[in-house]
Amino acid sequence: MKTYDAAVLGATGAVGQKFVQLLEDHPWFRLTEVVGSDRHAGEAYGDAVRWAEGSPLPDGIRDLPLRTDVDGLDAEVVFSALPGGKAGPVERALAARGHRVFTNARDLRMEPDVPLVIAEVNPDHLALVEAQGHAGDGFVVANGNCTAILLSLALKPLADRFGLEACHVVSMQALSGAGYPGVPGLDIVDNVLPFIPEEETKVVAEVPRFFGTIDRGRVTPAPIAVSATCTRVPVLEGHMLAVSAGLRATPSREEICEAFRSFRGEPQRLRLPSAPQTPVVLREEEDRPQPRRDRDAGGGMSVSVGRVRPDPLLGWSFVAAGSNTIRGAAGGSILNAELAAVRGFL
Ligand SMILES: NC(=O)c1ccc[n+]([C@@H]2O[C@H](COP(=O)([O-])OP(=O)(O)OC[C@H]3O[C@@H](n4cnc5c(N)ncnc54)[C@H](OP(=O)(O)O)[C@@H]3O)[C@@H](O)[C@H]2O)c1
Repeated sequence: MKTYDAAVLGATGAVGQKFVQLLEDHPWFRLTEVVGSDRHAGEAYGDAVRWAEGSPLPDGIRDLPLRTDVDGLDAEVVFSALPGGKAGPVERALAARGHRVFTNARDLRMEPDVPLVIAEVNPDHLALVEAQGHAGDGFVVANGNCTAILLSLALKPLADRFGLEACHVVSMQALSGAGYPGVPGLDIVDNVLPFIPEEETKVVAEVPRFFGTIDRGRVTPAPIAVSATCTRVPVLEGHMLAVSAGLRATPSREEICEAFRSFRGEPQRLRLPSAPQTPVVLREEEDRPQPRRDRDAGGGMSVSVGRVRPDPLLGWSFVAAGSNTIRGAAGGSILNAELAAVRGFL
């Protein structure tokens, strides 16, 4: 496989740092450029970043100059961790100049010509990039909201096997999901916040789009009724979701568990470098999954599910947990880029 130079935008933030960590030693993408805000003009990355990862800052990256604009960016592949509201015009401009952009920001997610992709859920939506029609074949591929990603990946085995009609979710979302420095300590210690701005709207809109059908360059959202209540909890990393699902078929508990256990997607068949062997991990213990114990499953790329039980309202309930900054952001984007490489879009 050819190797590609890669840049990270928003490289000093929570997701940007995760990109830097995950791209160290990546077999196909070589991190050559890092871009931050103009607060750090003239600084090297190692001086500008408040490195929060458990592993040391990779040596080769420490001395990279932190660029503060994207003019003259060289890298073919651009991973964006820019803030929502700032990202869209920058990402569109980069695509028009021939860059392949993989974004985590909300701005372009629902644009008709931008594929919103989870590699195991809707790999075929990637083909939408052809509708963007830029000279040099630049394009933007979007990652979803972190809760929508974890939820959709957990639901995928059930949707495939039994048909998904409705879903209700209550999320317990980690602090790292709010970026750095994020939520004030005086608000969140000893507390749960019952509101995350715009989060529920994103989950409700994105889940049907992930499961939508693609025809002649357009996505028709799946007819799935979604209701969401999103909360912030004092957990550092890893979102937990209490999910109820309404299915078309009437499977037994064992059939549901078997669907979770046996699920594999396109990244597993293609053996992509960032693909976890088991994208959905079924925990049989009565008190799993938990964010602290299960967020690192599959290197942060698996979603763990458990507590599968009948639900008198929708049919079945379960609990899911996974890493919001890896599967729900940087790792998911890198997996999308690997899929794009194998499918010939890079
Ligand atoms: N955190 C998650 O779990 C998660 C999950 C899914 C999606 N996302 C999305 O991913 C993106 C990044 O999130 P995050 O949590 O990493 O946020 P963050 O920690 O606040 O990081 C934002 C990054 O963008 C830079 N930046 C801020 N304002 C800028 C501007 N005007 N122009 C250029 N760069 C600017 C910041 O630089 P400074 O360090 O200098 O401020 C920082 O590098 C957001 O769109 C978010 O919605 C996040």
